[in-house]
Amino acid sequence: MQKLSIRDVELKGRRVFLRADFNVPLDASGRQIADDTRIQATLPSIRHAIEQGASLVLASHLGRPKGQPNPKMSLGPVATRLTELLGRPVAFAKDCVGAEVAQQAATLAPGQALLLENLRFHPEEEKNDPEFSRQLASLAQLYVNDAFGAAHRAHASTEGITHFLSPCAAGLLMEKEIEYLGKAVENPPRPYLAIVGGAKVSDKIEFLQNLMRFADTVLIGGAMAYTFLKSQGIEVGRSKFEADKLDLARDLLKFAERRTITLRLPKDNVVTESLSADATAQIVPTGAIPANLLGADIGPETRKDYAAEIAKAKMIVWNGPMGVFEIPQFAEGTLAVARAVAASSATSIVGGGDSVAAVHKAGVADKITHISTGGGASLEFLSGMKLPGVEALTDK
Ligand code: 3PG
Repeated sequence: MQKLSIRDVELKGRRVFLRADFNVPLDASGRQIADDTRIQATLPSIRHAIEQGASLVLASHLGRPKGQPNPKMSLGPVATRLTELLGRPVAFAKDCVGAEVAQQAATLAPGQALLLENLRFHPEEEKNDPEFSRQLASLAQLYVNDAFGAAHRAHASTEGITHFLSPCAAGLLMEKEIEYLGKAVENPPRPYLAIVGGAKVSDKIEFLQNLMRFADTVLIGGAMAYTFLKSQGIEVGRSKFEADKLDLARDLLKFAERRTITLRLPKDNVVTESLSADATAQIVPTGAIPANLLGADIGPETRKDYAAEIAKAKMIVWNGPMGVFEIPQFAEGTLAVARAVAASSATSIVGGGDSVAAVHKAGVADKITHISTGGGASLEFLSGMKLPGVEALTDK
């Protein structure tokens, strides 16, 4: 790591602005945390700072409140969960800037922590407004960024603030993410296999294009496979495909061919009339999907085929499910991929909410080398792109 780490800086008696990614799923009421993985992942940095005698101003965004306060996207529940997990009180500020917050921050004693309200309740956060950045910076004496999941955003709390505080160091989670994901872009062990799924090609075009600079083999699953198949003139019935992305899918296939990258598409499919919990499923080969049915998962032949590719790999990156895995009839493809990745001796990296959930559902999370807390951030990083939130940190 070329960036300064939280371990390199003197923390004793200092007030640290720690940007975390506490963008966690909440239930419909906005009061209960549905999954606290991202909170747990930041605990090592928080504990380290407390043990070293620092006080902490913790900050994050949650959801996309569009610059307006929204009680359903409050970080209040996160303060409660942090208090439970740390076994010490974490105070909660009603806002992230202003006189009251400044006063609360100024009176923090060593070892105490204050969580600010959602940064995105102010439009200036996403605009990377310098005055807002300065106000955030005024709450502390040095900056630590542990929000890998938000490092692809050049916002006030991830980029702007670094112009007003020094030093700016990476947190322990940030360091770990960069270390593991870095293995996939700097001299990866080969064969390097990428598994890409999910609904839309359009969400992952840039990723797929960039990935082809590094990967030897790409396995495609999820609804995006039907855009690729359709682009080859193959009938896909009522399967979801993106009509305006067919040319692009064709170009990507040609590009892969020119680069001698093996790009695999499903040989068979689990198809159905509807994507509902009581739907009946049947298996048909690719090219034979009846006009009234749609693809919901990769079929058993494809599972075998993909598992064989996975077994050959030395480096595996996985983002996006193979089917509608929330519904048991259409989950087997994604779970089979999860098990095959877990059984492989390759360095494996899984990113993106759905594939991470699948790995947990398959009960194999502990067999994955690294589960990234980043969705978009991990896609950009694995594409070889520079992340503004990382670039802005102080060099070692
Ligand atoms: C994420 O969940 O990927 C990060 O927290 C970033 O959120 P965003 O896509 O709303 O910027």
